[in-house]
Amino acid sequence: MSKQTLTITDNRTGETIEVPIGHDTIKALDLRQLKAQPDDFGMMAYDPGYTNTASCKSRITYVDGDRGILRYRGYPIEQLAQESAFLEAAYLLIFGELPSADELAHWNERIMRHTHIHENLADLLKTFRHDAHPMGILISAIAAMSTLHPEAKQVHDNQRRLQQIWRILGALPTVAAFSYQNRLGRPYTHPHSALGYIDNFLYMMNPMNQDDGEVDPVLARALDALFILHADHEQNCSTSALRNIASSDADPYSSIAGAAAALYGPLHGGANEAVLRMLTAIGDVKKIPAYLNKVKNREARLMGFGHRVYKNYDPRAQIIKKIAYDVFEVTGGNPLIDIAVELERIALDDEYFASRRLYPNVDFYSGIIYQAMGFPVDMFPVLFVLGRAPGWLAQWVELATDPEQRIARPRQIYLGEDERSYVPLAERA
Ligand code: SDX
Repeated sequence: MSKQTLTITDNRTGETIEVPIGHDTIKALDLRQLKAQPDDFGMMAYDPGYTNTASCKSRITYVDGDRGILRYRGYPIEQLAQESAFLEAAYLLIFGELPSADELAHWNERIMRHTHIHENLADLLKTFRHDAHPMGILISAIAAMSTLHPEAKQVHDNQRRLQQIWRILGALPTVAAFSYQNRLGRPYTHPHSALGYIDNFLYMMNPMNQDDGEVDPVLARALDALFILHADHEQNCSTSALRNIASSDADPYSSIAGAAAALYGPLHGGANEAVLRMLTAIGDVKKIPAYLNKVKNREARLMGFGHRVYKNYDPRAQIIKKIAYDVFEVTGGNPLIDIAVELERIALDDEYFASRRLYPNVDFYSGIIYQAMGFPVDMFPVLFVLGRAPGWLAQWVELATDPEQRIARPRQIYLGEDERSYVPLAERA
């Protein structure tokens, strides 16, 4: 059997080292043996955006970007989206196995019990302006929850962790719905604990064309599947932000608030909102070529396209595209879908995008569905947070229980000034 090592020769000194290979990876710290001068710090690896750096070992989600594979704890996303329910998928991500009937019933009951939020939190939501972006409200509210549950700081206590997991999964839909209603100047529609998780959320979003609190089962099922598709995606920008914050033993509310802040960016979870604005701005299939020319001239980005990992079609985008038509059966079509489908067709046939392996990602079609369901565009990243919360919580638990993890503290390549002396103000030019 070949040796599982890497031999590296430093041509500056002629020194050769042999470092072990594990999981097709070397430990960056092993590079520190290579020094140009004996008292040097030693060699590092430079990797802005962490394009080729593993920050952790994980057993939660597997993504194969070339083959368009996504699995939660080994289960293909296509099967989970078709067969599972969001809270069941959340259980799977967090605990690693599909729950038994009793485990699922207890899990659902615990979370639905926590859909009623603290009055202080409900009051806080009322302090925001009517035109406040709901992501700013949600991020603030999640961070504020840390002030209500100081015991959450006991991040190495399993039972305390579980309590916060119930609270976060229970409260997030309520915070989202209350912030939406507050912006409309409407009274809150309080949680209906007898309903299922997604039904309750749509019920609380009551002004969304739901008569008498009845929730359309097709829309509820579509949103449930959409949340499953968003539930985790290994070490994406927001998850690695969460891991960074939680690595200092920060409480889960502060860590999730930071993750939501990272997700808010238009290059990440804010892309679904940006896609809708892009499609609306294009306005007509005849204007697609002109827009794509702007993209090729780097005057605009094709939002909802491209991915750091998927260099093939994002499997989630394919599933979401199918869900769209189920939703349109109920809501009536969305004219933007025609623009999106034509935009995808033209782009996939264009060398500029093909050569860069740019395909539709999870955000390309999701916003069209959300709009058809009546959600305002700036609520789209909020829906992404509701879907991603179980993944963040699963990654948080895995970090908190990983003996190899330490506080995140990257190095840098310093290119700044060498030592120089202070110049009093009177002597400056
Ligand atoms: C999500 O990481 C995850 O898992 C994220 C996510 C999850 O579930 O958590 O999957 C969710 O964030 C999906 C991505 C949503 N974002 C968007 O749709 C925004 C538009 N896409 C991008 O800006 C971009 O594709 C990224 C941010 C997603 C990925 O960026 P990378 O990997 O850093 O790629 P890059 O910027 O280095 O681009 C490589 C090349 C460049 O061209 P060249 O300079 O080499 O000529 O591709 C071009 C880029 O200009 N390019 C695009 C493009 N995306 C990349 N050109 C036009 N439009 C785009 N969307």
